[in-house]
Amino acid sequence: MTDDTPPTADAVTCTGLTYAFGGSKAVDGLDLTVTSGEVFGLLGPNGAGKTTAIRCVTTLLPVPAGMVKVFGHDVAAGRMAVRRMLGYVPQQLSADANLTGRENVALFARVFDVPRKERAPRVAEALEAVGLAEAADRMAGTYSGGMIRRLELAQALVSSPRLLILDEPTIGLDPIARTGVWEQIMAVRAASGMTVLVTTHYMDEADQYCDRVALMHQGRVRAVGTPRQLTDDLRARRGDGSSPTLEDVFRDVAGSGLDEGGDFRDVRRTRRTASRVG
Ligand SMILES: Nc1ncnc2c1ncn2[C@@H]1O[C@H](COP(=O)(O)OP(=O)(O)OP(=O)(O)O)[C@@H](O)[C@H]1O
Ligand SMILES: [Mg+2]
Repeated sequence: MTDDTPPTADAVTCTGLTYAFGGSKAVDGLDLTVTSGEVFGLLGPNGAGKTTAIRCVTTLLPVPAGMVKVFGHDVAAGRMAVRRMLGYVPQQLSADANLTGRENVALFARVFDVPRKERAPRVAEALEAVGLAEAADRMAGTYSGGMIRRLELAQALVSSPRLLILDEPTIGLDPIARTGVWEQIMAVRAASGMTVLVTTHYMDEADQYCDRVALMHQGRVRAVGTPRQLTDDLRARRGDGSSPTLEDVFRDVAGSGLDEGGDFRDVRRTRRTASRVG
């Protein structure tokens, strides 16, 4: 691919992005900018619209209203060009239990257009990067939840993406496995300079690993900044001398709407993901 990206382009720009399922707007006028090279956390309660927005950025859903650009490329105009720049770990399981780890990653290498001659070494490299070199020729069905998540990370990394998008990469994992996934993400990012857009419900992860976060609620961004800026803002607004955490910011933004946020389908979907990987 010829890279005609303006050098100053942001990794992701959403302007007025709106997406409705039937009559209900899952994403409702979303404005969001992810700067090139940063780790950006998209946070928000169940049903806030995070996955829907991400699916629009990855070109898996169309953009019915508003505009989405990835490194300056309009996703509506050039879906393949955009896909070649992306690695994506979806919220739901994407590895095939009946293939080996190596076969799973090789499949993604083919789908994401890695040149045929480079495929075998790139697959081996991706498996090595996530610590699965030794288990590579076992069926993915025999992997633990943490290994499955790392396999999915290898699938997303095999095409050397400029933008890695992770939808709840650590859901259902034990604390050690969570740290393992993050350490691998941060190592690849340090080596390659890729941009990372991640959703998580773990505020400690967002606080520790994200350069900036956005709090999304009912389809829109309600607050954005570094974790420190957001907690400082809340402290100033409260003015009572307390030291709020990112979780307090989350509660403040999601506030009274929490009860309406998630629905049965959300819970079922989240649990299914958690039990499949956990
Ligand atoms: N395929 C679908 N059909 C109908 N409604 C949907 C569909 N997918 C999502 N929704 C609805 O859109 C809204 C946003 O869902 P979305 O999955 O984007 O939220 P989310 O922020 O990713 O939530 P979670 O934190 O639970 O993953 C919810 O009200 C959800 O019920
Ligand atoms: Mg989601």
